[in-house]
Amino acid sequence: MDIKEAIKERHSVRYYKDEPISEQHRAELDVLISQCNEESGLSMQLVVDDPECFDTLLAHYGMFKNVKNYIAVVGPKSMADLDVRGGYYGQKVVLAAQMMGLNTCWVAGTYKRGKCKADIAGNEKIVCVIAIGYGENQGTKHKSKPLSKICDIPEADMPVWFKNGVKAAMMAPTAMNQQKFFITLDGKEPVITAGRGPMTGIDLGIVKYNFEAASGHRV
Ligand SMILES: Cc1cc2nc3c(=O)[nH]c(=O)nc-3n(C[C@H](O)[C@H](O)[C@H](O)COP(=O)(O)O)c2cc1C
Repeated sequence: MDIKEAIKERHSVRYYKDEPISEQHRAELDVLISQCNEESGLSMQLVVDDPECFDTLLAHYGMFKNVKNYIAVVGPKSMADLDVRGGYYGQKVVLAAQMMGLNTCWVAGTYKRGKCKADIAGNEKIVCVIAIGYGENQGTKHKSKPLSKICDIPEADMPVWFKNGVKAAMMAPTAMNQQKFFITLDGKEPVITAGRGPMTGIDLGIVKYNFEAASGHRV
């Protein structure tokens, strides 16, 4: 599976098999997370075998099942673009996980923040977590806003690379599937902006990563 297929096939998965992440996959994730942390200044951490963080009422109502592993997206409180960076690098890990045959779900609200086992220093904070494991299913494709609400360039006028980027952005996960982002071209340069509201910074980072991975162009 290449990254474009991973973008297409990734959907939020909330039901997991009661199966630990294999040694090999753990090792690969650890290497990638370390690289991302070094490059970004974040402190993302893979936490395994911890059922408590997702032992919420929602789990009992059947919204989540067997979430025992998660990636905590953590970074310095002083980082001005912490949410965007967390979204960007978190999505890099999410797509790599998809290519390994793992499933994921970004979670900013429905987990127990106080029970999260990640190491969070006094000058750091947690942006959100990403549930990870082998899914009982592969999730389902989300409903998307029409392209015209997301981008002001008519499809017929889009360069191929830009169209690939926009399509990948439309497949990106966003909080409550809100898709509050907008893509345009400034001359030949792609520009992506976030709308207002909670979690739109994280969403923007995720969308930027999808766009770049599918288009081969930096945003
Ligand atoms: C920043 C962010 C926060 C999210 N928080 C939650 C959450 O608290 N609980 C939950 O069940 N899903 C959460 N989601 C998952 C979204 O509901 C999901 O990504 C969206 O509906 C699109 O579906 P898809 O991921 O299958 O494409 C979150 C997603 C993002 C990007």
